[in-house]
Amino acid sequence: EQIEKSGYEHFMLKEIFEQPKSVHDTMRGRLLVDEGVIKMAGIWDHIEKFKNANRIIIIACGTSWHAGLIGEYLIEEYARIPVEVEYASEFRYRNPIITDKDVVIAISQSGETADTMAALKLAKEKGAFIYGICNVVDSSIARITDAGSYTHAGPEIGVASTKAFTAQLTILSLIALKLGKHNGNLGNADFMSLIAELDAIPKKIEDVLSSTHELVQNIAKDFVDATNFLYLGRGYNYPAALEGALKLKEISYIHAEGYPAAEMKHGPIALIDENMPIVIIAPKKGHYDKIVSNVQEIKARKGKVIAVVNRGDTQVSEMSDYVIEIPETSECFSPIVASVPLQLLAYYIAVYRGANVDQPRNLAKSVTVE
Ligand code: AGP
Repeated sequence: EQIEKSGYEHFMLKEIFEQPKSVHDTMRGRLLVDEGVIKMAGIWDHIEKFKNANRIIIIACGTSWHAGLIGEYLIEEYARIPVEVEYASEFRYRNPIITDKDVVIAISQSGETADTMAALKLAKEKGAFIYGICNVVDSSIARITDAGSYTHAGPEIGVASTKAFTAQLTILSLIALKLGKHNGNLGNADFMSLIAELDAIPKKIEDVLSSTHELVQNIAKDFVDATNFLYLGRGYNYPAALEGALKLKEISYIHAEGYPAAEMKHGPIALIDENMPIVIIAPKKGHYDKIVSNVQEIKARKGKVIAVVNRGDTQVSEMSDYVIEIPETSECFSPIVASVPLQLLAYYIAVYRGANVDQPRNLAKSVTVE
């Protein structure tokens, strides 16, 4: 096991550090920047299904569901196809309206999640075209789908999903850009600049890992005794906030909630006092001004702000108690980069609390029963 961990203390840390490679591997052979194309046989062979789809329904659980939410933003923005994202466990029991004009995309790291599998079977029976985004090759979900794309993240051992999540976001980005280019909603110039941005993401993750690793460890030390955390983000980074909160609660057992920052006023603001740490994802691109006012509201109530901002940021940084800088990228790819320090934060808080990071209590790597 020590050999498999390649010198890292836990699989989770190893997997966090593998992300420059896993994101790169997920794009390899698919994203051909010089030729200006995205090659994805699973999509291309069934392009008519996607083109004529009334809507796309994404079904998943847990972290994969968070990836699905970001997929919704991506596909709606670039391909202009309506998308709905559903928890597989809810979808399967509510007699959903599905027709043969629907494309159902299941996202699953393991490819074995019972609820996702059952929801897919139901969609298939009702005539939908079903597409899989799985990490484990030849898994049950991969086998029952009509087509799909594997995330090439490599085996994920830590129960808390990290590299599979960023690989899922990579695939969803490729799908959205490919569909948008094909159906004419994404012009060539925008397409070209977006694929160049996407191609640069592995390097940006590498940068984040080396420039924030020590800093995040130090921040984590100050929150070992925290009992609650709020995670806030807007737009593409709202699901990233949900995912940051899920990571923390899974492995550190600290209660954490993710919220769209603007929803704070509708309830969670009542929780804010000097004992409430708030992680806020505030990149330059993506409602920055609105986030600035959210941070003002938090500081007026003495909340402790840990801000994830772009390098060189001043406004949010000046107001925040802790600042984690990440490189700039297009708004749509920012969750891939912003998630990395949040994974590290959850990891180190859990380690300092003495928790079993790779195998947290009560959790299984894949939930194969209801
Ligand atoms: C992630 O950290 C969790 N352990 C969990 O939410 C997981 O994402 C969920 O069970 C879905 O698993 P899957 O991707 O293998 O279907």
